[in-house]
Amino acid sequence: MAASSEPRNLDIATEAVRAAQSASTGGKPMLDFEGESTPYIDYQSIDVLLSLQHPRSPSHEEMTFYVAGQVKELLFKLAVNEVQEAQRQLNEDNFGAAMKYLRRIKEILVVLRSLWPMLDTLTPNDFNSFRDYLGTSSGFQSYMYRALEFSLGNKNEHMLKPHKGVPVIYPALVEVFEAPSLWDTANAALKRNGHPIEQAHLDRDLTASYEGHASVTAAWVAIYRKNDPEDVFFQLGEALMEVADAFSHWRMKHLLTVERIIGFKIGTGGTSGVEWLRTIVNHRFFPELWEVRTQLP
Ligand code: HEM
Repeated sequence: MAASSEPRNLDIATEAVRAAQSASTGGKPMLDFEGESTPYIDYQSIDVLLSLQHPRSPSHEEMTFYVAGQVKELLFKLAVNEVQEAQRQLNEDNFGAAMKYLRRIKEILVVLRSLWPMLDTLTPNDFNSFRDYLGTSSGFQSYMYRALEFSLGNKNEHMLKPHKGVPVIYPALVEVFEAPSLWDTANAALKRNGHPIEQAHLDRDLTASYEGHASVTAAWVAIYRKNDPEDVFFQLGEALMEVADAFSHWRMKHLLTVERIIGFKIGTGGTSGVEWLRTIVNHRFFPELWEVRTQLP
């Protein structure tokens, strides 16, 4: 059967259908399926997914790197999806629901972070056995990673540039770039609910690099000073901090893994490598929330 990226037909099964099937097999798994596929393959296009691994080198070691990269891309995609849902819920003042998605985003980031030790099993020699075959490709060119950074609030016009010539993704990436970030959405919710955040800050050019604002810091300091664990905004602040913290962990472990594997060699994407990555890890999402820590008595 030719693998197709289109969703396959799959009959919906109700509780009654499942009961009848289980009765017919005496509670054992189904073993016989019509046609050239199984419902499992059809539900998630597993045959397509597993046909997408094309290591370029003769090295056995490359598959570990290749699959880790693909898994990370899927998780970036899921994280963006969940950020957008958290924003929809915040826009409706559904704080409990929004925090449910923030918890999920944090856990996705924890899984992303936990993939680095798998790559640490690549010795420098293992990595060098296929590195040349990467050409000039680099994670820096990941548009899903960039969409995630933009959606959380790290806007940088230069980061759009590599994707300009890619018509299937550029418009979607520009949309995320121009839209309010999760941080903007959270602060707009604060303002709607009586916290004195300056409207001019929320109405600023959303594509410009984010600068923390005194009215945002003051609003969050007031929330944290109350120190009320029942306060939904206090809970929201900590849920956002969990996301920011987990993201920074991902960045820091990437940096460490890179240094461990290639030392101070230059990157395949054109940067100085570790030296450049060290400048990136200093960025913090939701900067005023970090500033609160300094300002609390
Ligand atoms: C384990 C071997 C890896 C090495 C040695 C490595 C090295 C680097 C280097 C040197 C850079 C800076 C840009 C450049 O010049 O290329 C970079 C950026 C980046 N890498 Fe990796 N990387 C590795 C694995 C991965 C994997 C598996 C992913 C997941 C998709 C990834 C995602 C990224 C991202 C998203 C950036 C851009 C960071 C930013 O712009 O803030 N890297 N990497």
